[in-house]
Amino acid sequence: MKILVTGGSGFIGSHIVDVLLEQGHQVKIYDVESPKYGQACEFVKADVMDIVRLVRESAGQDAIYHIAAEANVNRFHDSPFYSNFITSGGTINALEAARTSGVGRVLLASTEWVYGSDPGNPDVVITEETPMTDHPDHIYTSAKIAAELFCKNYHQMYGVNQTIMRFGIPFGERARPETVTPIFIRKILKGEEITVHGDGSQTRQFIYVKDLARGCAACLKPQAANEILNLNGRDRISVVDIIRNLEEILGRKARLTFIEQRSGQFKGRLISSEKAKRLLGWETQFSYREALENYARGFAAGKGAGQR
Ligand SMILES: NC(=O)c1ccc[n+]([C@@H]2O[C@H](COP(=O)([O-])OP(=O)(O)OC[C@H]3O[C@@H](n4cnc5c(N)ncnc54)[C@H](O)[C@@H]3O)[C@@H](O)[C@H]2O)c1
Repeated sequence: MKILVTGGSGFIGSHIVDVLLEQGHQVKIYDVESPKYGQACEFVKADVMDIVRLVRESAGQDAIYHIAAEANVNRFHDSPFYSNFITSGGTINALEAARTSGVGRVLLASTEWVYGSDPGNPDVVITEETPMTDHPDHIYTSAKIAAELFCKNYHQMYGVNQTIMRFGIPFGERARPETVTPIFIRKILKGEEITVHGDGSQTRQFIYVKDLARGCAACLKPQAANEILNLNGRDRISVVDIIRNLEEILGRKARLTFIEQRSGQFKGRLISSEKAKRLLGWETQFSYREALENYARGFAAGKGAGQR
């Protein structure tokens, strides 16, 4: 298939491009940044806000993976207008490009944040049937909810096929250095102090970016059209679990300081990716430990965050 990937030069997008190329698709990266990982495919250096260019580049494509957004929630916090502009505005542009150019499907990179951060009942598992939060606590969440709603509107009103992919928290090769796993690895390697809020028992479901990229590629299957799919890791991993695993993998002790719990700190709930398994046959190939070993060993070997 001919596939345009917006944001294909970034962390997750570059891994999606790798899997699509491995599967024999003809890929075109559409990004304001040049690809950094040597992908042999067409590249268009352009902004998703350039609707004329996006429409032109979408002509003849079978699918658009719309991955471009402001993914850094701190930058989102600091410049909400521009961040929302490219995140929800960029999504409507991708949908409009698909509508006017007759592209078969738009696949949106969304996030588990749309379920909100209410503690809720920790024993209730979140599925795609769980309603999105009606009181998002971050503009990033609101922008992604808007992006999802635009996908539904474009399907209902104009017949544009779409797939909403709700990602868990990805980690692995090429991750932004300011995210939790590379920060912990760097601090353990340098013997720097790690500050943990509360007792470190708050959990998240991390997903290895290589598993996530395969999940995104699986979403090309026809049965994923006009569906929402959670793509998440299997295990709930606490802050202390990350550190203890890294200590074993890196063979060094972490210097930990436990400080007061942040008020209202989200403890984490379980998000199920059973639908993706049932519908697409996708499930994670790597356990958390295996994925962390691959990543941390490469990192420690001097490849840093930019590793392949
Ligand atoms: N990283 C996470 O924790 C996470 C979790 C859930 C969902 N997501 C979503 O996944 C997607 C990818 O995230 P990521 O972590 O790979 O981020 P990233 O910043 O590494 O990649 C985003 C890419 O989009 C490009 N881009 C940004 N603005 C653009 C514009 N106006 N026009 C064209 N290209 C533009 C960037 O140059 C970059 O290559 C985003 O939509 C993000 O919201 C990320």
